[in-house]
Amino acid sequence: MPAHSVTTEETPEKHALPPVVRFLQGAKLLGQTPHVPGNTLVEHAEDAGVHIPTNCTSGTCGTCMVTLLYGEIPLPEVLPPGLDDYLVEGCARLGCIGKPDGDVDVDIRPPL
Ligand code: FES
Repeated sequence: MPAHSVTTEETPEKHALPPVVRFLQGAKLLGQTPHVPGNTLVEHAEDAGVHIPTNCTSGTCGTCMVTLLYGEIPLPEVLPPGLDDYLVEGCARLGCIGKPDGDVDVDIRPPL
């Protein structure tokens, strides 16, 4: 008869929650998904069950334009044809080429 029992003590040290990418339309949360480094915003949207329309998927047409509400989606050094300084000032980002850097909230609509 076994005289010992094994106890597994799991002590997850959660200092910070894993980053999440959230998609909103106004105040309405449409979906959210864990942040996957290297994935584009459109790929995150698919994971979250949210549709962001695309066309060129190369940063040219602006179809996938969203508004960054919180967090970082770094811009390329040279702005792609689908963005300009004015749009960037309005926090526009392109979902097809923009890659979230950690926690991010976006409105799936372009800046007004
Ligand atoms: S789909 Fe054309 S800029 Fe993103």
